[in-house]
Amino acid sequence: TENTIAQPVGTTLERYIMRKQAEFQFATGELSQLLRDIALAGKIVNREVNRAGLTSIIGSMGQQNVQGEAQQRLDVEANIRFIRALTNGGEACAVLSEEEDDIIHTGNCQGKYVVAIDPLDGSSNIDVNISIGTIFSIYRRVSAVGQPAGPEDFLQGGRTQVAAGYILYGSSTMLVYTTGHGVAGFTYENSLGEFFLSHPDIRIPATGTVFSCNEGYWFDYPEYVRSYLTECKRQGQSGRYVGSLVADYHRNLLTGGIYLYPPTRKNPEGKLRLLYEGFPLAYLIEQAGGRAETGTGPVLDVEPTDFHQRSPLFVGSPELVARLLAGAAEAE
Ligand code: AHG
Ligand code: MN
Ligand code: MN
Ligand code: MN
Repeated sequence: TENTIAQPVGTTLERYIMRKQAEFQFATGELSQLLRDIALAGKIVNREVNRAGLTSIIGSMGQQNVQGEAQQRLDVEANIRFIRALTNGGEACAVLSEEEDDIIHTGNCQGKYVVAIDPLDGSSNIDVNISIGTIFSIYRRVSAVGQPAGPEDFLQGGRTQVAAGYILYGSSTMLVYTTGHGVAGFTYENSLGEFFLSHPDIRIPATGTVFSCNEGYWFDYPEYVRSYLTECKRQGQSGRYVGSLVADYHRNLLTGGIYLYPPTRKNPEGKLRLLYEGFPLAYLIEQAGGRAETGTGPVLDVEPTDFHQRSPLFVGSPELVARLLAGAAEAE
């Protein structure tokens, strides 16, 4: 559909944020500032990503994160950059990061927001120059302003997010986000150091011919997933899998398609983390007219109990997700 074709319309992210803020009479500008702080950190990480091979920032740290993953240098670098930008920006009182065991208090106790973040998504792709991303999710705090944030600020549930989005460090660098009034995409112009509005109103096509999953786990998949994928292949659909959630998700958002990360023996709850992968991407896809399901219900309805809990994720065009779930219902 025409609205997914880039339409350079000249509006900068800054002007867009100010225009959107003006539409809400009670807006005080804090969320606007928080979005600016995230965009700034994204520009800094973008620069690190673009020269990773030259600054010995590739490779692993030789240590594990709370997920039990070998932390990549760029995981740690991006984590530091985002936490620093959010601390200096003053609007976020705490940050929950994939790369930190516990919440990080920024010291901004007057800040009204908390941010859950996957600072570098697709870490296995860093050293081989394949697209990677950052995913963020923003909540208004429920703990008292002036006090340090508490776990309850991050465990409010996916439908209480006030904003969510991602940065895709791909063939071009894009920022895509929602504040609950549709999805907008911005493309980074390196020479000017600015994000420009390129996708004013992203809507996912109702259906598609792309399925995205790591078929290496084929024999772990539930039977309804295997029969869905077999039918896709019988129809000659395209298997597209970058191995970076943000890249696979973004392609399917624009072209239509479905991304699947089902339960596996290695990750019986699915591999992807709810608070900084599932929830923000589910919020975004629903804002773009799509669906995000766990296999037993909408992702956004999952009750969060643990900062780093995992969830299966089936996300994309509503007709494709519905067809997958119809198979799940039959299987029961
Ligand atoms: P992260 O790099 O933030 O840990 O996330 C990795 C995720 C996601 O980006 C990607 O789609 C998925 O892991 C790939 O997992 P497999 O290698 O198991 O396919
Ligand atoms: Mn990730
Ligand atoms: Mn990550
Ligand atoms: Mn990781």
